[in-house]
Amino acid sequence: MEKEPIESRLNDETSKASQLNRPVEETFWRRLKKPIVGLSPMDGVTDPCFRLMMALHGRPDLIMTEFLSVDGICHGAESALQGLAFHESERPIIAQLYGPTPETFYHVAQLVCELGFDGLDINMGCPSKKVSALGSGAALIQDPPRAQAIVEAAKAGIARWVSGAPLSICQKYPLVADWLAGRKKKNTPIDDRRSIPVSVKTRIGVDRIVIGDWIAALLEARPAAISIHGRTLKQGYRGDADWDKIAEAAEIAQGSGTFILGNGDLRSLKDAFLRIRKTGVDGVLIGRAAMGNPWIFHRKEILRAISAQAESVPNAIDLSLLEERPVSTHSRFAVALQHARLFQASYGERYFKGMRKHLGSYCRGFEGARALRSKMVRVLNAEEAAALIKDYLSHPTAPPASTTIQSDAQLTR
Ligand SMILES: Cc1cc2nc3c(=O)[nH]c(=O)nc-3n(C[C@H](O)[C@H](O)[C@H](O)COP(=O)(O)O)c2cc1C
Repeated sequence: MEKEPIESRLNDETSKASQLNRPVEETFWRRLKKPIVGLSPMDGVTDPCFRLMMALHGRPDLIMTEFLSVDGICHGAESALQGLAFHESERPIIAQLYGPTPETFYHVAQLVCELGFDGLDINMGCPSKKVSALGSGAALIQDPPRAQAIVEAAKAGIARWVSGAPLSICQKYPLVADWLAGRKKKNTPIDDRRSIPVSVKTRIGVDRIVIGDWIAALLEARPAAISIHGRTLKQGYRGDADWDKIAEAAEIAQGSGTFILGNGDLRSLKDAFLRIRKTGVDGVLIGRAAMGNPWIFHRKEILRAISAQAESVPNAIDLSLLEERPVSTHSRFAVALQHARLFQASYGERYFKGMRKHLGSYCRGFEGARALRSKMVRVLNAEEAAALIKDYLSHPTAPPASTTIQSDAQLTR
């Protein structure tokens, strides 16, 4: 059968959707209080268990899944489909997707809507060779027309879903249809088909910084938001994030209606506040510093209050208000064990290895943390983690359960 070119199909779908006379999409991005403080997506970290712990104990303004392959989803890969699970408390919850082909985004966007996500984010920043060699992730920075086509294809998929049409992904990929049918037995199908926003997460370049041209090209596709990690693909995670380039992007995007979030190396809300103030971004994403530390998000309302105050009375700002309140050892261990038990119940003991890094992250900032951490990263299951904690707390030098420990921002690791 001759393939219908994606462009003509997309135009067709977009015009069908515009005939629906629906209200202009009111995105959650607009409703969020500014500056936004969200959780950055991290492959192998922001799985459904980690996200739930963040939602329960940190309450970031938004949460993103790990990046999930659109091709993997279409072919029914269990790891990709598992990553699409979320809990209501995570809202607003955004599915982050990667892949090289606009048409695949068109199909998967409909599934993302059907599953009830609040937004769809496209990864244009992953530096992994496996991802960029295919022309996806950060490689898209070198191919703006493809990047724009992907955003448009995702929007067209969403418009098709809003129009009430059957999911093309189910027609084309029977494995996905079966998987969805299995889920629908458990979940109530959505009858109010509302549009969801498409955003992009990216870097400042590939082997050199191209932020100006790149952001201008992305803005043509009118994403709801662009999150920018201030490093190039070549840098990986080396060196420092370049927040001056993030500031440049924020300036270019001013008045476009697209929100800009800065990202990279934020260790505390005080860091976040200073960066927001200097760069004029609409918010930030925090990644690594949230590992083992959902409490990092707690003072975000204070950050917003201080940001508002900084506009009117800049000299009266008291940054000490942003310092994290110390977390008791009791709370920290309780959250670590809740996380471990949830992980074990979700994936089974066989895959518990994936939990070890999290257990290690919770062991910071108290007497004996390093020694406990080195044991934690070797445990085989949640029971062993619980036994280690019990043993640690029974030691004569252990702090009493109520003792508070330093916040991560104050730690020497
Ligand atoms: C282990 C790990 C996995 C990551 N996976 C993703 C991902 O799936 N999608 C994405 O957009 N960025 C990913 N990133 C990048 C982070 O979202 C973030 O941009 C980066 O870590 C810088 O922010 P931070 O200094 O606050 O951690 C990953 C980073 C790490 C450390």
